[in-house]
Amino acid sequence: MEPSSLDRAAERLAAARRVLAITGAGISAESGIPTFRGAAGLWKNYDPMQLASPEGFEQDPALVWEWYAWRLDKVRAAAPNPGHRALARLEEHLGDGLLVLTQNVDGLHQAAGSRNVWEIHGNIRRVRCTVTDKVYAPDEIPIEAPFPVRTPEGHLARPDVVWFGEIIRLEAVEAVDRFLAGGTPDVCLLVGTTGMFPYIQRWAMRCAQSATTMIEINPEPSLLAQLCDHVFETNAGQCLPRLVGET
Ligand code: OAD
Repeated sequence: MEPSSLDRAAERLAAARRVLAITGAGISAESGIPTFRGAAGLWKNYDPMQLASPEGFEQDPALVWEWYAWRLDKVRAAAPNPGHRALARLEEHLGDGLLVLTQNVDGLHQAAGSRNVWEIHGNIRRVRCTVTDKVYAPDEIPIEAPFPVRTPEGHLARPDVVWFGEIIRLEAVEAVDRFLAGGTPDVCLLVGTTGMFPYIQRWAMRCAQSATTMIEINPEPSLLAQLCDHVFETNAGQCLPRLVGET
């Protein structure tokens, strides 16, 4: 009997020494955190320019903070799902050979046990001073009413996340570049992302140009599916544990 696409992809992953996993909102969907796009996506009912841009924040910082506090409640109530845990398990085998590059700000990869994670869009639990740029660790400043949140000096604070119209941190780009310079990934996993951002597309293309086996897991294949050797149209929480070999 011919091995199935899932078996072949699982074999590639089992043999891999370097893996780049690019994750997006879809991997946290099964933890109860809404995605941004798609039928029930946040951007259907909320305006990203009002709630996730420097201009929107300047116009109404309290409104932006209320929205982030609402999302933070969801994140606090959420636990990692089998998809996050499968990636953490993979890191136990691969060590620094696995880099998780996530667009999520929820910290669920780390909660599942992943350590080699770059949160390229920041973290919703952290707060940053708009005057000094000082970053406060999670829970150092309570994110609660009255909004907007302020630093102990009374400066206006903002969520330490990347908004539309802002660029991602240079350190994140350098970390990915370092990882790629350390050897071509044997496998690139694209999990639960629409791949809208050019930097995500570029990293995926860089892998696809080399001998990397490209695997997408997404119930609605993304733009990046064209680059992939295997596309699994299913939920990350179901597929990733099977790919990693823990059914
Ligand atoms: P999106 O909301 O754009 O896409 C989520 C993807 O996950 C979609 O392709 C869904 O089909 C897929 N999906 C849904 N449920 C899934 C599941 N159970 N398993 C696997 N996939 C599933 O999220 P991102 O691509 O992460 O940025 O969006 C990127 C960025 O756009 C976010 O970081 C955020 C947003 O605007 C900023 O706020 C700057």
